[in-house]
Amino acid sequence: MSVSKNIQRIAVLTSGGDAPGMNAALRAVVLAADHYGIEVIAFRHGYQGLLDNEYTLMQPKDVQHVLQYSGTIIKSARCHRFKEDSAAVEAAANLNALALDALIIIGGDGSFRGAEHLANHWQGQIIGVPGTIDNDLYGTDATIGYATAVTIAMDALDKIRDTADAMDRVFIVEVMGRHAGFIGLGSAMAAGAERMILPELQKDKPLTISALVKHIHRVQEIRGEGSYVMVLSEHQWPGGAVALAEQLDAEYDLPCRPCLLGHIQRGGAPAPADRILASELGVHAVELILQGKHRVMAGMRANQCVDVPLRDTWEKKNPLAANLLRIQHEIFNPVKKNPRRNTQ
Ligand code: ADP
Ligand code: F6P
Repeated sequence: MSVSKNIQRIAVLTSGGDAPGMNAALRAVVLAADHYGIEVIAFRHGYQGLLDNEYTLMQPKDVQHVLQYSGTIIKSARCHRFKEDSAAVEAAANLNALALDALIIIGGDGSFRGAEHLANHWQGQIIGVPGTIDNDLYGTDATIGYATAVTIAMDALDKIRDTADAMDRVFIVEVMGRHAGFIGLGSAMAAGAERMILPELQKDKPLTISALVKHIHRVQEIRGEGSYVMVLSEHQWPGGAVALAEQLDAEYDLPCRPCLLGHIQRGGAPAPADRILASELGVHAVELILQGKHRVMAGMRANQCVDVPLRDTWEKKNPLAANLLRIQHEIFNPVKKNPRRNTQ
């Protein structure tokens, strides 16, 4: 790694929705900084801590044995005031008073907008590390936390399948990701769900209840007795899974059970993929600072560490995998009769 900057002191914070693997990323930042002889401080509670000057010195002993836990040991928060110019000016003054050369922000797209906002008022280098279960940041193949969230959702779907199949029932499992269907598509694919209701699909062609009922009947017709499990991304149906289940029961005589996974998707032991990604990106973030980079996110593309302009991470979009959508809809759970299949 070619070092072009003399860096003495940096800061790190975690912001927005916590994501499994944030602790692993923090550990990597602290260990990499120690390796390069850089002092690290952590602001607690995200941007709120930056405004309140709530910080602590971080040394390797402070991050021993933290990578196996979700959440974030330096705390996270949402701080609405940070959107104001006066808040960014205040934050810049606090960073200057501590003689910081750079700031690493571990968070999602909102946190990166905050980073760009701060960069308009502060001269130091700012590097983002993608930490969100939603997987909705352009410029990286995966975000830290997504692998864990999709594993938790898959495990839940597997469990629901046991009881659903036993009683030939229809179930709706509501997952997180109000703006992005990655958790929905990934868990549906991994658990063999019959249907997905995802933000990207709803935007193009919103599913009607009659089309859904038709699909349920069609799948039941093809498969005979058994269960039908659908994955619903949050905020994609008025009233969510509970309302949809009630509607199917009341209006279509289709008994249906809802299951809301909620914040369970953000807890427990981070998946190996998240720990490894977080470890690599945390070190990469420190090395990007040493290379003089600014206003970029440390990302991973095709197993290569990359840096992507922060603004691109929310202005551009990673699409859902078209091939997975095709397989789910056309091959695994088709609506139309297949003339080639002679058993129908
Ligand atoms: P995430 O980073 O997980 O997407 P949020 O969208 O809640 O979470 O953003 C985290 C924080 O980033 C917000 O509470 C706010 O402090 C800051 N932030 C979000 N959007 C902006 C913005 N447009 N300008 C400045 N700060 C922002
Ligand atoms: O952005 C991560 C996320 O978990 C989203 O999937 C979800 O919509 C949101 O955060 C929930 O936010 P909160 O934890 O504030 O309820």
